[in-house]
Amino acid sequence: MQIRRDLERAQEILPDLLDQPDIWRSVIIESAPPYMERLWTPWEDKRITIHRTYGLEPEERSIYHPHPWRFAVLLLDGAYRMVFGTGPGKEAPTPLGDVVLCPGTSYAIESIDFWHALYPLGDSILSLMVTAPRTDRWSPPNTVPKRPVPPAVCREILAETKAALLLHH
Ligand SMILES: [Fe+2]
Repeated sequence: MQIRRDLERAQEILPDLLDQPDIWRSVIIESAPPYMERLWTPWEDKRITIHRTYGLEPEERSIYHPHPWRFAVLLLDGAYRMVFGTGPGKEAPTPLGDVVLCPGTSYAIESIDFWHALYPLGDSILSLMVTAPRTDRWSPPNTVPKRPVPPAVCREILAETKAALLLHH
């Protein structure tokens, strides 16, 4: 389970990375719900990413999607229900079931044919993700022009992440 070991290593160095605001790049993900702010930094041949993900409005439906990389996630704050399934290509597979994740929960996905949809159970979620190098696997294209997270919001997310780490140690 290589990507889980990578997540554990990322957790160890995260406090140092959080003290370096300049290494983080950012983008607002707003092409499909749930909307999120993403901060990431290159790491070896991978990326370390922090997401602040927002809750769904009643009329919003979470996008069910695969990722073009193997990845692992540690939930730092908030909770969500995750519907999941597995299948190749672009056609959404039948969901296999769901899990509810709470702070401290982590999962590692070693297949690029894993699909999921996230349903936040509150106003916002904070999570740490490690992603392996991108593959050519199809994933839903971003349809909205990319814009960065404002610097003050980036600093707020880094501070929230630091506080969440302190709570879980
Ligand atoms: Fe995802």
